[in-house]
Amino acid sequence: FSPLFIGQFNQHNPLRSGYTFDEVSFAVFSHTIQKENRFRTRFIFYSIVVVVIAYFLSQYPFFKMADTGKRQVLPTNVRPTHYDLTFTPDLKSFTFEGTETVSLDVKQNTKTITLNVNEIQVKSAKLSNLSLKTNQSQSAIDISYDNQKQTVSLTFPEELPTGSKAALHLEFTGILNDQMCGFYRSSYEDKSGNTKYLATTQFEATDARRAFPSWDEPAIKATFDITLIVPSELTALSNMNVISENPHEGGKKCVKFATTPIMSTYLIAFIVGDLAYVETSTTGLHNGGKPILIRVYATKGNEQLGQLALNVAADVLEYFAEVFGIPYPLPKCDMVAIPDFEAGAMENWGLITYRTTAILFDPKASDAKFKQRIAYTVSHELAHQWFGNLVTMEWWDHLWLNEGFATWVGYLAVDKIFPDWDIWTQFVMEGFQRGLQLDALKSSHPIEVPIFDAISYYKGASVIRMLSNFIGENVFLAGIRRYLKRHEYSNASTDDLWKALTEESGIDVGQFMTGWTKVVGYPVLTVTEPSHDTINICQSRFLSTGKLSADEDTTHWWVPLGIKLGTSSNDDFGSKVLTTKEIDLKLPAGAFEFYKLNSRVTGVFRVNYTPERLAKLGHAAKKGLLDTSDRVGLVADAGALAVSGYAKTSGFLSLINEFDNEDKYIVWMEINSRITDLISVWYEQPEPIYQGLLAFQRHLVSKLVAKLGWEYPENEDYLITMLRTLVIKIAGRAKNPEFELFTKKNDDSALHPNIRGAVYEIVLSNGGGVNEFDAILKIYRETSIVDQKITALTGLGFAQQEDLIKRALEFSLSNEVKTQDIIYSLSGLQFNRKSRRALWNFVKENWEIIYNRYSKSLSLFGLTIKYSTDSFSSEADIKDIEDFFSNKDTKDFLRPLQQSLENVRVNTAWLARDKKDVEEWLRANGYLQ
Ligand code: BES
Ligand code: ZN
Repeated sequence: FSPLFIGQFNQHNPLRSGYTFDEVSFAVFSHTIQKENRFRTRFIFYSIVVVVIAYFLSQYPFFKMADTGKRQVLPTNVRPTHYDLTFTPDLKSFTFEGTETVSLDVKQNTKTITLNVNEIQVKSAKLSNLSLKTNQSQSAIDISYDNQKQTVSLTFPEELPTGSKAALHLEFTGILNDQMCGFYRSSYEDKSGNTKYLATTQFEATDARRAFPSWDEPAIKATFDITLIVPSELTALSNMNVISENPHEGGKKCVKFATTPIMSTYLIAFIVGDLAYVETSTTGLHNGGKPILIRVYATKGNEQLGQLALNVAADVLEYFAEVFGIPYPLPKCDMVAIPDFEAGAMENWGLITYRTTAILFDPKASDAKFKQRIAYTVSHELAHQWFGNLVTMEWWDHLWLNEGFATWVGYLAVDKIFPDWDIWTQFVMEGFQRGLQLDALKSSHPIEVPIFDAISYYKGASVIRMLSNFIGENVFLAGIRRYLKRHEYSNASTDDLWKALTEESGIDVGQFMTGWTKVVGYPVLTVTEPSHDTINICQSRFLSTGKLSADEDTTHWWVPLGIKLGTSSNDDFGSKVLTTKEIDLKLPAGAFEFYKLNSRVTGVFRVNYTPERLAKLGHAAKKGLLDTSDRVGLVADAGALAVSGYAKTSGFLSLINEFDNEDKYIVWMEINSRITDLISVWYEQPEPIYQGLLAFQRHLVSKLVAKLGWEYPENEDYLITMLRTLVIKIAGRAKNPEFELFTKKNDDSALHPNIRGAVYEIVLSNGGGVNEFDAILKIYRETSIVDQKITALTGLGFAQQEDLIKRALEFSLSNEVKTQDIIYSLSGLQFNRKSRRALWNFVKENWEIIYNRYSKSLSLFGLTIKYSTDSFSSEADIKDIEDFFSNKDTKDFLRPLQQSLENVRVNTAWLARDKKDVEEWLRANGYLQ
C-alpha cells in the first residue's frame, strides 16, 4: 500500500519546474559569497549588479510574487471570491460546455484579467461592474492565450477601478480527455459486457484549469456553486450535497449543489456516471454530536465491494474529528471508485476518488493484503479533509506538509482501528525504508520542494514521526490542533506548523527541524568503542554510493539518539541528542553488554556498528532483547550498509543467518526484501552462485514453511496470514521441492486468493509454458475481482521462454491493459531475470509509443523508466542507458532517469566490491557445491 503512483511535476509547465526562484537565487548568492573572502571589491560590485538585476526582475509578475513568499504566478490585480459554475458534459462526443460567473474583488485599476486555462476554449467573456460608467456588461475586446504559462488574458474596453467588485461571465468548451487529468472520461464494461463511460475530475496539482478558467493556485481560495446538466438516468456528484434536481431539455436533468466553504481549486471535483452506493453514518460522538453521512460509490453492481472502505471511513472520520478537535466540515463524505485513475487516490473535499484496487474489496475473493492498503488509503485521504483541505499549503513547495503529515496520521488512524496489524513496525519496514533508500542517492532533493515522491511522503512522515516521538504524541497532536484552528479556511507554511508546535511544546522546533526539511539527505551514525565503557558516535551523510569526501560532509543533523540499554537504570540516556559532528558517551556500568541506538527506529538515520557489536546485536535479537521494530531496523541498516560499502555483505548474510527462530511477518518482509535485492543484483552471476543464494533464501524460511502449511484458517491473525503468503512465495521462488505438489493445483478456483500471485510466479518460473501462460491470461480476462486482475497481470511477467516474454511485453501496451495498469505488467517483467533485458529492449524499440502515451503522466512515466532500467548492474548497461537517452529530450523525466542511473551505478559498485565476499560466504556456509 504505497503511493506507487506519485511523480514529479510536469516540466512543460513553468509553474511546475523543478527549481523555485529561491533556490536559483540562493545558488547565485552563495556562489558570490565564496568569492567575497578573496575579492571584497568584486563582491561589492557583484552585489550591486545582483541587486540591480533583482530589482528589474522583480518588476515581472512571476518574480515579484516570489518575493512576497507566496509564489503567486497570476497577476494580483483582481481576486476571485466566488465561482458559479455550470457544466454540461457530453459522454458521446467527449466534450463539455461550461459557463462560469466569477465574483471579483478589484485590487488595482485594470483593463486586463489573466487567469489559468489549459486546453479550454473561451467562447465569450463579459464583465459587469457597478462602478463602470456604462453600468452594463462589457465584452472582451481581446482574448489571448499563453500556452506556455497556461493562461488566458481578457482585455476589456473600460478600466475596473481599485476597490470595486466585478462579475466576470465566461462561456467555454473543453474536451473530456482520456489522460486521467482535468475533466476526463473513464471507461468500463458493465455487467452485460457493454462498454460504458463516466466523466470525472482530477485536478491536483494544476489541472483545474483544464476544466474551467480559474485562479488555479492553492492560496487563492474562493467559494463555489456547482451545477451539472446530465442525462437524467445518471448519478451526478460534487463536493457538496445536492440542493435541487430539475428536469432539463433533451432528457436531461439539472443538478445543483450547495455552496462550498472557501477552498482551493485543486480540491474541486465532480463526477457523472451510472453509479450506485452503500452508505452509513458515523456515531457523531466526537463530531460535536453530528453524525457524518458517508457513501461509497462504484459503477452499478460493484457498490457492495465498498463495504470495507465504508466501515473504515466511519471509524476514521470520528477518530479524526476527535484528534483534530474540529468537526468534519462538510455535510457529507462521498468516496468513489474510478475505473481509470492515475494516482492511488485523491482527497477532493467531500468527494474522494480512488483507483478501484484502493477501495473495492471482496472479503471472499480478494487478496488479504489489499485490505490493509484500502484501510490506509482511506485514512490518508480522510486526514487531508482537515490537513490539506481545511488548512492548505500556501504553495506547492510545502506539499510535503500535506503528504508527509497525511501519511503519518494515516498510519496513526490505522494503528488505532486495527491494533493487531502492528502498522508502525510495517512503516519502519516499508515507508521509512523507501524514503531512506531514495534519499541516499546524490540525485535526491530536500523535503521542501514541489515534488511528489518518496521523499515528500515517506521521509516527510519519518521526520514527523521523529518529532512527535521526541516532544510526545499528545503534545504533538495538541500543536496540530492549534495549527489547524489558527489557519482553518486559509493557508499555511511549514514554518507555521513549527510555530504552533513550538508554542505547544516550549521547545524551538523550527530550529532543529529546518535541517531535516531544507537539507538533502540524512546521517549514518558510526559507533566505535574507544574504551571498555565509552562509545564514540560520529555522523555524516549516508550515501548509497559510499563514503563522502570531507568537503562534501558538512551537514550536522539534530539527531535524537534513542539509546536503549539492557541495564534497568535507564537514566537519561533515552533522550540524548547529538547536535555536533561527534561525541564520546560514557555508558553506565554494565551497559556495555547490551546497548542499541535508535530504539524502535524513530530517528531518521542509520547506525553503523563494528562487526563485533553487530554480531552481539544479532545474538541479542535471538535472545528476544530487541522488539520487532528494532529487529527490522537492524536488518535494514545492515543491508543498506552492505550495499553502500560501509560494511561487507558477508556480515549482513551472517546477521540474517541468526534469524532462524524469527517468527514475525514484518521482520521476514525486511529480510526478504534485502536478500531479494542481493539476488536481483547478482542475477547474471554464474549459475552455481545464483542457485546458492536461492538455496540460502530457501533455508531461511524452511522451518516456517513446514509450520504454516498452505491453508488459511478463517479469522486467523492477520500477520500470520501475511507471513504464510510471504514464505510460500519465497520457498516457491527458491524452488522448494515441497511446493511442486502445491503448484500442481494449477486451477484458479482451488487456490486461496492470497496465494495466487505467488502461484503464478512459481508456476511460470518453474517450467511453466504456453498453457500456464494462457491460463493466467484467461484469469486476467475473466476475473471480476479488481485486485486479482492486476495480480494476474503481474504474473504474466514471470514467463521464461522468449516467445512468451514477447507476448507479455506486447500485451502491456495492448488495449486490453488500461494505461493506469502498465506498472503492474512491468513490475513482473523487471523482477524476472529472464525478461529484464527484453523489457529494456522493448522500451527502446517502442519508445515513441510509450513516450506519447505516458510522458504526460509523470508518475506512470517515471515508474516505466525506473522499471525498465534501474535493476541492471554493469558498466555496459550504464553506457547503454546513457547512449539511448543522449539524443532525447529528457527534461520531462530527468529526475527518475538520474535516480535510475544512480541505482545502476550503486548496483554495479556493490557487485564488483562484494562478488568474491559473497561467494566465499556461500561456500563457507555450505550453499555452494
Ligand atoms: N494528494 C494525493 C494524490 C496526488 C498526488 C494527486 C499528486 C496528484 C498529484 C493523495 O492524497 C495521495 O497521497 N495519494 C496516494 C495514496 C496514498 C494512500 C499514499 C497515491 O495516489 O499514491
Ligand atoms: Zn495524500
